[in-house]
Amino acid sequence: MSRLSDRPVTALVGETRPHESASLHVTGRALYTDDIALRTPYLLHAHPVNAPHAHATITRLDPKPAYDVPGVVRVLTAEDVPGVNDSGTKHDEPLFPTEVMFRDQAVAWVLGESLEAARVGAAAVEVDYEPLPSIVTVVEAIEQESFQGVQPRMERGDVTTGFADSTHVFEGEIDFAGQEHFYLETHASLAIVDDDGQVFIQSSTQHPTETQEIVAHVLGLASHQVTVQCVRMGGGFGGKEMQPHGFAAVAALGARLTGRPVRIRLTRQQDMTMSGKRHGFHASWKVGFDDDGRLQALEATLTSDGGWSLDLSEPVMSRALCHVDNAYWIPHVRVDGRVAKTHKTSQTAFRGFGGPQGMLVIEDILGRCAPVLGIDATELRRRNLYEEGHVTPYGQPVRHAERLVRAWDQVVATSDFAQRREEIARANAENPHSKRGLAMTPVKFGISFNYTSFNQAGALVHVYKDGSVLINHGGTEMGQGLHTKMLQVAATALGLPIERVRLAPTRTDKVPNTSATAASSGADLNGAAVKDACDQILARLEPVRDRLGPTATWEEMVTDAYFHRIQLWAAGFYKTEGLSWDAQSMQGEPFKYFAYGVAAAEVSVDGFTGAYEVERVDIVHDVGDSLSPLVDIGQIEGGFVQGVGWLTLEDLRWDVSDGPGRGRLATQAASTYKLPSLSEMPRDLRVTLLDRATEDGAVYGSKAVGEPPLMLAFSVREALRDAVAAFGPSGVSVDLASPATPEAVYWAIEGVRA
Ligand code: MTE
Ligand code: MOS
Repeated sequence: MSRLSDRPVTALVGETRPHESASLHVTGRALYTDDIALRTPYLLHAHPVNAPHAHATITRLDPKPAYDVPGVVRVLTAEDVPGVNDSGTKHDEPLFPTEVMFRDQAVAWVLGESLEAARVGAAAVEVDYEPLPSIVTVVEAIEQESFQGVQPRMERGDVTTGFADSTHVFEGEIDFAGQEHFYLETHASLAIVDDDGQVFIQSSTQHPTETQEIVAHVLGLASHQVTVQCVRMGGGFGGKEMQPHGFAAVAALGARLTGRPVRIRLTRQQDMTMSGKRHGFHASWKVGFDDDGRLQALEATLTSDGGWSLDLSEPVMSRALCHVDNAYWIPHVRVDGRVAKTHKTSQTAFRGFGGPQGMLVIEDILGRCAPVLGIDATELRRRNLYEEGHVTPYGQPVRHAERLVRAWDQVVATSDFAQRREEIARANAENPHSKRGLAMTPVKFGISFNYTSFNQAGALVHVYKDGSVLINHGGTEMGQGLHTKMLQVAATALGLPIERVRLAPTRTDKVPNTSATAASSGADLNGAAVKDACDQILARLEPVRDRLGPTATWEEMVTDAYFHRIQLWAAGFYKTEGLSWDAQSMQGEPFKYFAYGVAAAEVSVDGFTGAYEVERVDIVHDVGDSLSPLVDIGQIEGGFVQGVGWLTLEDLRWDVSDGPGRGRLATQAASTYKLPSLSEMPRDLRVTLLDRATEDGAVYGSKAVGEPPLMLAFSVREALRDAVAAFGPSGVSVDLASPATPEAVYWAIEGVRA
């Protein structure tokens, strides 16, 4: 084992602790960006002018009438931008557009003494549009060949041979929905200028460095003139990886032009209509099995709905392609990916980052083909699981595949799977109007950013003269418990009680050039950087320890070190070793390791309405040696439920008619967009961490946890399919829409009955 994964006998990592801000969260004392804004004097409020077309040219924009509105201070338009009028890194996202690319896109922003003044001012801005034809669905985009960005292909073996060797070949298509992030805190930014025109921005951002870079290029400043801080986020889920930049830039521009602090905080409706979501996908596929139901070949084309600009659509597609195999060995594979360009919000990162979409394709295939192959779907999945020695289609060995099998067997045993299977069959035979379903699905999720350079992190650890410790690192806190883990890491590394360590908000002037807190790698990367800084300090204290003897306290050593002019702070750095990725050939070893998990879900479905309940879920998930078990279990439960939401409840609907509402998001509030709530929780949810799972090469033997559990939710979708099948004759393939809402389940039941 490397030193990084070695855990001291007495360690604070591995201890069950609450989230470091739990009491602040539940008492309402936790401050979010906009709470800070509202405590800021001389504040101006920003409101967008939203376009009423899905696609149009702006022929005239007159801000003058807005100035007649009392309280309006400034209207921001393209002419005000001193630098680059673009809010992205690809230069395909004009901040103030001349061509409207999606309905409700902001074409100008109004600053007011109050939000109400800004809102009325925004309504007064006169804009003329020349409407243009629009593309709203992926299918329309495919028909019109409206694509953007690269079109990668992942290939291994020869699918023609694979299909020739197959005794069963099936083909199909599926069109599945995206997902709204619905973080509790909507997008928020607060910008302040100091006396020299430098800007300080507080932003609800997962990627402070990129927010800094975008603000700098919009304002025509250098990065050192822009500082971004993120105190914490009320959820990000990937939605704040790229999407905050434009809002931060507008606030910063407003602050520069007026000299006053400027605040943007979107309403829920603005957030839902203006910011990107999980990509919905269309997939067409052809699959071959041998006589035993073993996968031989897979050919597929995945088309994601990218929306109006690229944003993160290309890397999301890469990850989708890297996860079409999920946990299954497929000898011959050829999968093409392409990003549709549509007149919608620019779809973006969302927990799993394309992984869930890739996996949905293979899980849907296995679920649909099992009855036709005459093999129980759970058995079919089990038979195709990766084994040690197998290699993924992109050329990475599936290390620790035996953990997958171990987790599988553990779920089979602890969920009494076989016995419940029989019970359910008996109950279903007796009950014509209500059926139960049971399914098991695995997860294998690659950890690291596909893009190798992003796999680096920094930290800054200060030891003050009184022995107290302040840590800073490049990661952001969005509720996932990263800061809790970092406190545990620092306390473990320094051998101190956790109370001696405090963590300060993430800031670009403390740790520069950070990667987004994303790809579930926050704890891996920043934890190793924090540990590196702590190790440097400990190394410098060694002569002090020698001088004072083993009984010296930490405080005595620190005092002595100070008087001997020993540096008591350090900057730590970490980069993940051993990664390689060739984006051209889609080959390499992009992941440090895989996170594994298995879930078994039981549902009951009402045959009259399609309404269902999730009765019981058993999960065994691999987090290595947990850094913080309570946090990890919370992440597994939360990720799982969010996945269930995506697959069974949350139904994004756009107006696809030719009427005046074309392109409008029809589900733009919690009243029409159904999120999982307590009543949708499984009645019985059992989460177990896989034991004996030390990950050598990662900080204190742990593994990333943020995203992988979301994909355990396939078990619920497949259990619904299983229950639906019970309404019809055996051997019938069940087509199930995604999301499998009660309505979709109802139509699936009608389908098998027919
Ligand atoms: N958990 C909470 N409570 N809130 C969030 O916004 N985001 C998820 C996951 N868990 C999220 C969360 C996503 S998309 C990622 S990539 C990881 O947390 C990021 O944090 P980590 O790298 O520290 O795990
Ligand atoms: Mo997570 S989708 O990588 O922010």
